Amino acid sequence: MTAAVTATAIRVSDLNYTYPDGTVALEHVSFEIEKGESVALVGPNGAGKSTLLLHLNGILHSKKSRGAVEILGETVDPKKVHEMPKKIGIVFQDPDDMLFMPLLCDDVAFGPINLGVEKVDVKQRVKDSLERVGLAGYENRVSHHLSGGEKKRAAIATVLSMEPEIIAMDEPTANLDPKSRAELIEILRTLKSEGKTLIIITHDVNAIPELADRVIVLHKTVVADGTTREVFSDTETLLAAGLEVPTIMQFFEVLQAFGYPCNVLPLSIEGAVSNLTQTIENGDGHIHLHIHEHTHIEVDLARSKYQHHHHAARMQDIHSGPGTGAAH
Ligand SMILES: Nc1ncnc2c1ncn2[C@@H]1O[C@H](COP(=O)(O)OP(=O)(O)OP(=O)(O)O)[C@@H](O)[C@H]1O
Ligand SMILES: [Mg+2]
Repeated sequence: MTAAVTATAIRVSDLNYTYPDGTVALEHVSFEIEKGESVALVGPNGAGKSTLLLHLNGILHSKKSRGAVEILGETVDPKKVHEMPKKIGIVFQDPDDMLFMPLLCDDVAFGPINLGVEKVDVKQRVKDSLERVGLAGYENRVSHHLSGGEKKRAAIATVLSMEPEIIAMDEPTANLDPKSRAELIEILRTLKSEGKTLIIITHDVNAIPELADRVIVLHKTVVADGTTREVFSDTETLLAAGLEVPTIMQFFEVLQAFGYPCNVLPLSIEGAVSNLTQTIENGDGHIHLHIHEHTHIEVDLARSKYQHHHHAARMQDIHSGPGTGAAH
């Protein structure tokens, strides 16, 4: 195998998928992810993100799927789904879909046992995986009695114990309290620094700059694919997909309206600190802000850019009579 082949972790080529009831979920989806890359997969509800994830390890593959998925240089063969967990581990959004044994140690041991790992090694893997997600000593806890955040970490441990090269997670930070969320982000950063290839589906835009080098926007098909900065700079595409940018970026746009000199908007608090430091150093120890004739209009513009509810409320006025409560 040549280096060029092994460097590609995931290659999706013109993937199309329609559910048996006729719902078109994926259309002409193509992208490549290199080994060691960390990619955020974003898109509105119903965009096909989870459907795409299920194709990566062959769970969802039928006569209705067209196109190809290659993992580590090999085309995913639905007949060999059992071989996939060694290469790619998938953490589903709902941890209850991953925890089904009475004790947590059995859930975390389940994968390696199925891969034929020696018994003593399984025990070590269980211990290591639980430790990595901050659940050291939880071996004999009852899986379904764990709290929501603990379950999420446990679900990740069931994948880590298989030691896959690629890890894909469906909304790992959803429903977590701030401390658990921060700890989870730390787990993901560690995996990234160890060279694992990560795909993270998330609606948590503020977490993306910390987690991902690259962002793919999916809306049935790939509508944007670039560095985190490139994608977050593409306002039109983000708005069309009902998405937004990190709060820090929005705040610095407001600061710009007050005359703050800033060519490159920071994406994270870390970026904001260095940006502010730089500006203060360039300004003899001060930051100069001011209000002029158009400041308020500019502030309003910056603030309303991602206020989707204005748009949504207007659409509702137009479309719905009294008493309709259609969910979408
Ligand atoms: N089993 C199914 N049968 C029929 N349609 C389905 C099925 N599962 C999902 N869909 C539909 O396929 C489309 C894509 O769904 P998917 O779950 O992949 O979206 P998603 O991007 O993960 O959304 P979310 O952000 O809400 O999790 C949606 O229109 C959804 O209603
Ligand atoms: Mg989903």
